[in-house]
Amino acid sequence: MTTKITMEEMRAAYQRTAPFLHKTLVITSENIDEKVGNGTHVLFKCEHLQKTGSFKARGALNSAILAKEKNAKGMIAHSSGNHGQALAWAAQKIGLPCTIVVPKNAPISKIEGMREYNANIVFCEPTVTSRESVCADLTEKLEYYCVEPYNCVSMINGHSSVAFEILEQVGNEIDSIFLSVGGGGLASSVAFLIGNLRPDIEVYLVQPAQKELSNFLENGIKCPVDTLDTIADGVRVARVGPLCEPILKQYCAQKVISVKEDEIKEGLKLIWTRMKQRIEPTAALAFAGVLYHKPAHIKRPLVILCGGNVDTNYVIN
Ligand SMILES: Cc1ncc(COP(=O)(O)O)c(C=O)c1O
Repeated sequence: MTTKITMEEMRAAYQRTAPFLHKTLVITSENIDEKVGNGTHVLFKCEHLQKTGSFKARGALNSAILAKEKNAKGMIAHSSGNHGQALAWAAQKIGLPCTIVVPKNAPISKIEGMREYNANIVFCEPTVTSRESVCADLTEKLEYYCVEPYNCVSMINGHSSVAFEILEQVGNEIDSIFLSVGGGGLASSVAFLIGNLRPDIEVYLVQPAQKELSNFLENGIKCPVDTLDTIADGVRVARVGPLCEPILKQYCAQKVISVKEDEIKEGLKLIWTRMKQRIEPTAALAFAGVLYHKPAHIKRPLVILCGGNVDTNYVIN
């Protein structure tokens, strides 16, 4: 497997995965522009319409292709949802068995998604410790290749295709990119590529307020909890991975935006009702960053709508 995050590896990942992925749409809405105000024109990259309903398919597919090249017996991961679905899809696509360790409280729609792609599901307790230890034991027993959800070189290199597409599609129309940050895989991928190719485009990391990522990136102080209590279930992991940390420090240290739970809900409502896009709360987080906290000089932000996997019985209250 690749061991480095480099532009060369990112280009190679883009080439090897593009034939199997959607080049997702970039859309806009006059109504949303009015709501954001200040003459802002917001662009949305529709990763909720990506294979498996999130950007995760990008890195997962890159990981699966590389694992197959190395004759892996199968793939395994721990995930509460999108990573598991993406890996199950990618493994099925390239013909490898797949096991996902899933916390008991994971959203039903995401568990069903993993099953649909024929993954073997093993339940664990809803804590980081339980996820990691059950997954580590099974990895050893099955001798599968374990794909970490965010602290993983092949995932980070693979995700960069979203940034290549953004540059191709609207690179000359945007001044910034806003994305939701959990473990930091998507964030470090986009920040690294944009920082190398288009440093004039600012990359903002949008977090649930309790995450305290600025305090970590600027002062080295870690978030005191390991799981966040937020409706944005894709970013409940409180701390960014060690591989992501130096990249985020280099490119995004002053670019962290904190959002409150009510703001995420409002952002979700607006996108569901005005744009008719059924995104999940984690995608609304990035939009809420623009809606409520956009720095005044930003006029043409692109929001990555990172996922659309939401339970059908989900209602915003
Ligand atoms: C929809 C969605 N958005 C964002 C993230 C956060 O990604 P990362 O952990 O790479 O920061 C996840 C993670 O699972 C996700 O599922």
